[in-house]
Amino acid sequence: MLAIDSTRKMSFNRTISNGDLAIVYARHDNMKPVTVSEGSVLQNRFGVFKHSDWIGKSFGSKVFSNKGGFVYLLAPTPELWTLVLSHRTQILYIADISFVVMYLEIVPGFVVLESGTGSGSLTTSLARAVAPTGHVYTFDFHEQRSGSARDDFEKIGISSLVTAGVRDIQGEGFPEEFAGLADAVFWICLNLG
Ligand SMILES: C[S@@+](CC[C@H](N)C(=O)[O-])C[C@H]1O[C@@H](n2cnc3c(N)ncnc32)[C@H](O)[C@@H]1O
Repeated sequence: MLAIDSTRKMSFNRTISNGDLAIVYARHDNMKPVTVSEGSVLQNRFGVFKHSDWIGKSFGSKVFSNKGGFVYLLAPTPELWTLVLSHRTQILYIADISFVVMYLEIVPGFVVLESGTGSGSLTTSLARAVAPTGHVYTFDFHEQRSGSARDDFEKIGISSLVTAGVRDIQGEGFPEEFAGLADAVFWICLNLG
């Protein structure tokens, strides 16, 4: 039988702790991100779920409500995050993201520059591709959007792999300090004229 060492995967190598973000999966078309908080409950049509029952369980676990209903607690992989994130802009989906990551030959350890961050859908996959030693520097000229993306990266636990800055890349270019250091550059070019 083929043995898979899942501890080497970024998303599966730990149990759920207080403060973690989990994707609560009821059905393929009913998923929602929830920050686990001891003392809180999740209430849906399947019943009431105590967050305290979730702590210490592995991501992927099936958990039960007071009424015997159940949901699965999934790790916030880039693929799932793309499906549940708040849309503050149009976003890239997995088919295009896969193309970008392969076409740019992004591998662990790369330094990647991205413009613009948008809702952070692409950034999340870029972060996983460069982990554990690389870094993604992503820029958006919209300050509030950049701040919201930064909050999301913190929530899903990738902030050590991503720096989100505010900058007009079309007008100013990427910061000079990256000259000669970047391994890949993704620049979304919107020609609305
Ligand atoms: C379609 S969204 C990007 C979506 C993102 N790739 C994702 O998957 O979530 C385009 C973003 O580019 C930003 N943008 C447009 N022109 C820019 C510029 N000159 N410099 C920096 N950001 C820019 C916009 O503010 C917007 O947030």
